[in-house]
Amino acid sequence: MWRPPERIKWKPAPGRWPTRAEAARSRLFSPVRIGRIELESRTWVPAMVPWRATEDGFVTDQNVEWYERFARGRPGAIVVEATGIRDIPSGPLLRIGHDRFVPGLARLVDAVRRASDGRTRLLIQIIDFLAIRRRPDPEKFFARFLPIQPWHRARLGAEGWPEELVRRHLAQLPEEELARVLETRELEALRYGERERVTDVERPHIRDLPQVLPGLFAQAAQRARAAGFDGIELHYAHAYTMASFLSRLNTRTDGYGGAREHRVRLPLEVFRQVRAAVGADYPVGCRFLSEDCVEGGNTVEDTAWFGVEFARAGMDFLSLSRGGKFEDAKQPAIGWSSYPYTGPSGYECMPQYVSDARGPFGRNVEPTAAIHAAVRAAGFATPVVVTGGMHGFEQAEALLAAGKADVIGFARQSLADPDWFEKVRSGHGAQARVCEYKNYCEALDQKHEQVTCQLWDREALDEPGVHKTTDGKRRLVPPLWPGPRG
Ligand SMILES: Cc1cc2nc3c(=O)[nH]c(=O)nc-3n(C[C@H](O)[C@H](O)[C@H](O)COP(=O)(O)O)c2cc1C
Repeated sequence: MWRPPERIKWKPAPGRWPTRAEAARSRLFSPVRIGRIELESRTWVPAMVPWRATEDGFVTDQNVEWYERFARGRPGAIVVEATGIRDIPSGPLLRIGHDRFVPGLARLVDAVRRASDGRTRLLIQIIDFLAIRRRPDPEKFFARFLPIQPWHRARLGAEGWPEELVRRHLAQLPEEELARVLETRELEALRYGERERVTDVERPHIRDLPQVLPGLFAQAAQRARAAGFDGIELHYAHAYTMASFLSRLNTRTDGYGGAREHRVRLPLEVFRQVRAAVGADYPVGCRFLSEDCVEGGNTVEDTAWFGVEFARAGMDFLSLSRGGKFEDAKQPAIGWSSYPYTGPSGYECMPQYVSDARGPFGRNVEPTAAIHAAVRAAGFATPVVVTGGMHGFEQAEALLAAGKADVIGFARQSLADPDWFEKVRSGHGAQARVCEYKNYCEALDQKHEQVTCQLWDREALDEPGVHKTTDGKRRLVPPLWPGPRG
């Protein structure tokens, strides 16, 4: 992962922990309404892919155990990991693109209800993403993948050559020469792996996204309701299709790109169709970016405006993340895909302990506060969730008190200790395992390996009933907290 050049090493600073009575009086542990439902507290576990689904997208026992473990800590809400809306193979990521996925997803709902005594609300994040290929072996790229075009021949002065010879010649060219002969996208395909963009409108399936996506999202939303989820989070964040429509980098000229009024059009059309499919009483919100954090991308000026439009359209919550884009991602190794959390925008999304003078904690607070303020100024009470580096009670309480957000998202902190919520609420915050922001979890995510936390995954490995990773070296969920008297 990219790191700021300053390389200042930060330690988590959770501050003072509240007594049970202080927690009971706190804002953090006070209820909040998300549309028709109420969260018992303003604590939220944002979506995190743990790489536990089957290769064809079904819920596994490991997924059930994972969410059950989070639910034992009784956060106000858990959002199930990004779940694909299409009925297409996408590796071990959860899917909701067909009714056959509903029974498995319903198991997650049951597990969370049981483990939290019905006190944690369970939402699901639904996502669309475009095709991305692995970085090819250059030999294969020139021998097979690259279609030979007239411009290659012209730039090489190789008009009459047999194709085979052009290919062999290209394969031997030095980098600077390749940059002259290949088009930008061809070079990108060679260096990073081919990646589709929402602006590739010459491809019919990309051109037609505005016609196709509202229906796909709406059907997925209906399935989520049928499976028993308490609500839906539309994934409009990071490097994926809907965030790319919202981005200033979206230059489509068909009424779905360019000016922000056009960029927001598809996200609003998706929402309206989802709303029509699940009904007015069903909680639906979205996760979007407070800032794209890439050159030429969205700033708060755009996103505060989007926040108001989403609230005006009737979304029940707005959850803010930041960055996490492909545009500045590092070059992957041959045989690997580009990962949108490896560049400066990825750092903004999941900042780690080696940071700049601003530090890794709360980088998303001020942009989120600006969106919150714009939504309130427009007269909407839509709750706003802030995430990024949250790990302390005082930190969370202070920004709720300052009116910068309404709900606090704890992603890596809840992975480090899903009992954080129960421990802090019961006056045992000092027992919380505090995230060190080393990004061990994120490195596993990047390799598509089962995600765990280094603060607990080697603990009590011989305990009876412990389920382990495929290589048998790490436990899949943290040991149980025996409770206050432990
Ligand atoms: C292993 C892992 C998987 C993640 N998967 C998702 C995801 O599926 N959807 C999403 O919107 N964000 C995802 N994120 C980002 C988190 O939700 C969160 O925004 C980010 O980690 C910053 O918050 P934190 O500092 O509290 O960890 C993931 C993060 C991690 C560490």
